[in-house]
Amino acid sequence: MANDMDKSDMQGDIWPGLLKKYEEFVLFEIKDAADFKDRLKEMVSKKQITTAQDALSTRKRVSGSGKEVEMSGVNIAFTSKGMVKLDRDELRDDPFIKGMYTDMVSEGRDTDEEWDGCWRQDVHGVLLICGTEKKVQSTRERIIKTSLGSSIAVVGKPMAGATLPKKKDIHDPEHFGFRDGVSQPILKGLDDDKIKEEGVQKTFTAPGTILINNPGFYDDNKKWWEPDWAKNGSYFVLRKMGQDVPKFHKYCEATARQLGFTQDEFEARLVGRWKNGAPVEKYPFESSTFDGNLNDWDYEDPDKQTNCPFAAHIRKTNPRIGIGNTTKNLMMRRGIPYGPVWEPGKNDQVERGLLFTCYQSAIKNGFQFVMNRWVYNHGFPHDRNGQDAIIGQDIKGAVEEEDKKLRLKLLDKKGLEREISFTTFISVKGGEYFFTPPLQFIRGL
Ligand code: HEM
Repeated sequence: MANDMDKSDMQGDIWPGLLKKYEEFVLFEIKDAADFKDRLKEMVSKKQITTAQDALSTRKRVSGSGKEVEMSGVNIAFTSKGMVKLDRDELRDDPFIKGMYTDMVSEGRDTDEEWDGCWRQDVHGVLLICGTEKKVQSTRERIIKTSLGSSIAVVGKPMAGATLPKKKDIHDPEHFGFRDGVSQPILKGLDDDKIKEEGVQKTFTAPGTILINNPGFYDDNKKWWEPDWAKNGSYFVLRKMGQDVPKFHKYCEATARQLGFTQDEFEARLVGRWKNGAPVEKYPFESSTFDGNLNDWDYEDPDKQTNCPFAAHIRKTNPRIGIGNTTKNLMMRRGIPYGPVWEPGKNDQVERGLLFTCYQSAIKNGFQFVMNRWVYNHGFPHDRNGQDAIIGQDIKGAVEEEDKKLRLKLLDKKGLEREISFTTFISVKGGEYFFTPPLQFIRGL
């Protein structure tokens, strides 16, 4: 059996993350399982699947070279149906077994009409190809035509994402204009050196929160541990989320005025961070004096929203204090925007959004828990504090007048509690739950 956190066993997008200026997700169906297993094993022996160790080497190479470096990294993950095809159907995470359509459309707030057709076909797996555009495209061609060949059939068109251009002091912006990829779990045993180098003390997260069957895996008495071959793997969530950027800014401009805020102050309250990443909890009225400390902070009081609203996106998805073990529901987020940047003033209908992705050792503790218990729950963390405006979704088939709009409470510029209402700014176009296996799993197929 592999060692805990073995960097040559785990795939690199889980940790430290594959470098990506451009990324393609290729959904596929396994046509000939025996042939597929042989071809995939060969890809591993030829080092065509990027491990954590490989990803670290690429990072070193890129940071040491002062110029643009062409690169590509490849990872692979399987759906529950794909695992059955591979004769390995022993994984135990309930949401993974039922799949995202059942979980989020049949039983959740996504709508069938908004989901793209490709997700309803037989999807057995996904290839993640990350790096620079041309290299990614040629790597994709090679893998599909030569490495995996006729053992698979591609489902739909590859989904492509690309980082948006940096704006002034805003690194890696998403389409609403905010710096993304800021707050990530810091894994004990993997990120220790990085933390020493950066010199900031942060809360460590047990590696078992992200990596299956690793120290701190949620079930310490091992009753629910996954099979040995899943160790150092992780569950992967992919969710294509359209963002209505003109609608978001128009709503924020009008509502900010009613509350006495500038548009920037109000938008920062909906996210919980300013556009440059400064936390609203620490910098309630301006972000210009931000000292660059993105994560080494907590909310002052779990029962007060003096600075940051309870319903702010980052407070809903990670309340940090007041809920006991604050790290067991964390996810490693690795998403990338898709579509062109919105130009202010234009009310275009161009498709743009986020290819949201995240890793966790159990979807029932990570993505699904956070969505169902926190994001959709207007009573979390406090009575009727409302919905997350960034990813909140309208209630399907709402009949009662009060359910037809989403609401949230926050303090206005004068410090008075106000309730505001809105309809969703996102549309979910599809997605799926996957298992990203360790390399020992592939070798054993
Ligand atoms: C269009 C969709 C989304 C947008 C525009 C968006 C945007 C953002 C932004 C701007 C941040 C703050 C920067 C950072 O900490 O990286 C953030 C943080 C975060 N988001 Fe999202 N997000 C989206 C979808 C989601 C989804 C589906 C989830 C899943 C529950 C999620 C979970 C989180 C978490 C856990 C954090 C970090 C909170 C913290 O630890 O402080 N996001 N997001």
